[in-house]
Amino acid sequence: MIFTVAIDGPAAAGKGTIGRAVADRFGFRHLDTGLLYRAVGVIGGDPVAAARALRPEDLARDDLRTLQAGQAASRVAAIPEVRAALLDFQRRFARAEGGAVLDGRDIGTVICPEAEVKLYVTASPEVRAHRRWLEVGGDEARVLAEVKERDARDMGRADAPLKPAADAVLIDTSAMGIDEAVAAACAVVADRLPPR
Ligand code: DC
Repeated sequence: MIFTVAIDGPAAAGKGTIGRAVADRFGFRHLDTGLLYRAVGVIGGDPVAAARALRPEDLARDDLRTLQAGQAASRVAAIPEVRAALLDFQRRFARAEGGAVLDGRDIGTVICPEAEVKLYVTASPEVRAHRRWLEVGGDEARVLAEVKERDARDMGRADAPLKPAADAVLIDTSAMGIDEAVAAACAVVADRLPPR
């Protein structure tokens, strides 16, 4: 069965947690596409060359989750040649046999417009910054400023900007616990699965 769940939304909205849980529940493979851009940002040098030479082990680096890696990712992600270099890998992953969940910014709009399920997971900037701050610590006001800066860059870029696909189901996790958000996402997927 070929079945793609595309999950898009801004930083720290809960996409990754929801994506992993949906993949576990339905036995699909999961790709956090932010890791591709984070790895390109962290490798440094010429980002286009880094994107073209990206290897699976680069996605396993232990320095990809920092605020700096997120900012570097958001900057290299605005370069059209970087996005182009990462396109085929993501498309193949999305349409491989067995079902796939991809989370990112442009999965339902650019990478896989034919996805059987498109979710747009969001939350207020304050709630997202608070969640990120619980993970990374430091000054919460600075984390909020970085979240807003990254939103503006990801939503404002010319190539594949972050926005909900016209046919995406919106899940606002501002006032939801993670279990509730996962249940909402799983309900949409269960509803669209072909009968067996
Ligand atoms: O989801 P994340 O925070 O790990 O993503 C890091 C950055 O990578 C994000 O600010 C924008 C970019 N990104 C993107 O442009 N397209 C994607 N599909 C995933 C991430």
